[in-house]
Amino acid sequence: MPEDPEVRGTVLAPPGYPADLERDVVSPTGERYHLRPIRPDDAERLVAFHVRLSTRSTYLRFFRVHPVLSDDEVERFTCVDYRDRLALVVLRDDVLVAVGRFDRTPDTSEAEVAFVVADAHQHHGLARLLLDELARAAWERGITVFVAETLAENRPMIEVFLASGFRVTTSREYDTVSLRFGIEPDEAYRAVLAKREAARRRAAASRDAEGNAGQC
Ligand SMILES: CC(C)(COP(=O)(O)OP(=O)(O)OC[C@H]1O[C@@H](n2cnc3c(N)ncnc32)[C@H](O)[C@@H]1OP(=O)(O)O)[C@@H](O)C(=O)NCCC(=O)NCCS
Repeated sequence: MPEDPEVRGTVLAPPGYPADLERDVVSPTGERYHLRPIRPDDAERLVAFHVRLSTRSTYLRFFRVHPVLSDDEVERFTCVDYRDRLALVVLRDDVLVAVGRFDRTPDTSEAEVAFVVADAHQHHGLARLLLDELARAAWERGITVFVAETLAENRPMIEVFLASGFRVTTSREYDTVSLRFGIEPDEAYRAVLAKREAARRRAAASRDAEGNAGQC
């Protein structure tokens, strides 16, 4: 029999919900966000998030103009098993501003990874943060390789992968770049990650200092 959903706050968390992946974060640019695994009740938030994306952002994500998610997509994107399919969302004041996900290729230890960040929240390091978190979660779930496809013009996405600290290989076919990399947290990756985490800690500390300065 499936286990009962666990009650978290006022929301029923689905079975297998990995609460350990939920936390408050501060971007390297000092913005505060909340990070957590996606839940089925995010359907409305995801629809609203997608509708607010620019045409260019949806085009870069889906390789076509795609202004509205279908019901099937909403269900597929929000109902995950947290093992072979996992999505993390970033929220600001309960509004969804970024999603990163991996989907395991069936019966393999590879997964495809994809991201989309609301236009107003791009360049705050959210994709970098999501990649680090997804890689850690995927590794713990027996996934060893991430693959991704992106348009060759999508420099920010390609840079996020190339600067990750993982050893990324790329191949280009026409307008599309395929990327592939092992996600073992080896010494090289840990060194790059430590710098990113230090930058996030510095941003959080200076944010806290600003907050305290404003208090009576
Ligand atoms: C591509 C996308 C996901 C990037 O998200 P993001 O949160 O803006 O990315 P980040 O801020 O983490 O990183 C991007 C930036 O950091 C840079 N960068 C990434 N890692 C870095 C590192 N370790 N050191 C220095 N710079 C780095 C990139 O060059 C880029 O620089 P910029 O902000 O100065 O332009 C976002 O632009 C988006 O949603 N685009 C539309 C959808 C899409 O393209 N999805 C990808 C489909 S595969």
